[in-house]
Amino acid sequence: MNKPVSIDWSQLGFSYMKTPYRYVATWKDGKWDQGSLSEDNQLKISEASSALHYGQQCFEGLKAYRTKSGQIQLFRPDQNAKRMQESCKRVLMPEVSEEQFIDACKQVIKANADYVPPHGTGATLYLRPFVIGVGDNIGVKPAPEYIFCVFCLPVGPYFKGGMAPVNFTVSQYDRAAPYGTGAAKVGGNYAASMYPHSLAVKKGFADCIYLDPKTHRKIEEVGAANFFGITKDNVFVTPDSPSILPSITKYSLLYLAEHYLEMKVEQRDVYIDKLDEFAEAGACGTAAVITPIGGIDYNDRMHVFYSETEVGPVTKKLFDTLCGIQFGDVEAPEGWIIPVE
Ligand code: PLP
Ligand code: COI
Repeated sequence: MNKPVSIDWSQLGFSYMKTPYRYVATWKDGKWDQGSLSEDNQLKISEASSALHYGQQCFEGLKAYRTKSGQIQLFRPDQNAKRMQESCKRVLMPEVSEEQFIDACKQVIKANADYVPPHGTGATLYLRPFVIGVGDNIGVKPAPEYIFCVFCLPVGPYFKGGMAPVNFTVSQYDRAAPYGTGAAKVGGNYAASMYPHSLAVKKGFADCIYLDPKTHRKIEEVGAANFFGITKDNVFVTPDSPSILPSITKYSLLYLAEHYLEMKVEQRDVYIDKLDEFAEAGACGTAAVITPIGGIDYNDRMHVFYSETEVGPVTKKLFDTLCGIQFGDVEAPEGWIIPVE
């Protein structure tokens, strides 16, 4: 029996909160078991787990939304399931089927339904699926066993202030290499981003922007979100690179900009010394949603886009359309919304 929850939904940021139930499945002898819900938020694993030593793991992030009528729904979970399969392949882990992935998410949401924030608060239930290589192993080779787990927590904005613009600085460091693991959602990319992130925060920025590792001339992405810009003639532009995470939010915005807002869209190179082409810019992702970028600091010069304090009109329209769909207030393209019955 769940205890009644008393949470000030408006005060939530992006911090861990233990919720009552998580889903845990195990892969052994060539197959995943059917998994079950657990009240224990501790995993007991071998000291020789390859996830601990060699980073053989991956994760996902998606959200459950409460609609006006009180229903709960998921936004494009099939896309997260597919991306997790790609991440698993990249680090030689067994894939979780789309069906098991979505079923695990639904079980966790239903068991923790009291933690899905009410409609209108802007808060959501964040789901964190992950796969880790476990079992006794010391050589640099795939683990003998794996755990697939999904836990959840209610969240508010990832960047402080939500829809308020934030400033980023350009990192001299790289998070991923060409032909490396940048396009997979594996922990090593995030470990590599923690030091550059800490330097950015020390200088007063919300996070850093990474440039392409080969030439350091083109924007790749932010540590936990993709980049987009709106040109002065209203084109939605986002970088095209094999070493960035293929953001589900970014692909959704490309579709919405073209089909809902009748904008031209482009995936192409975005040069750091040509930011003048943009009237507005933003960071997009599941956690970041759409976070307007006030300005980017590069070579000790701050390039301001629309404003450091106000949200640009196109960014606002994209935000309203995306969130309208996610929360069930705007009609979604077919197949984007999966109800949690
Ligand atoms: N880029 C990175 C490095 C991320 O961690 C995320 C978050 O998942 C994104 C981009 C955005 O991806 P998505 O929109 O699928 O959440
Ligand atoms: C997400 O947006 O789901 C992410 O994974 C970003 C992050 C918190 C690492």
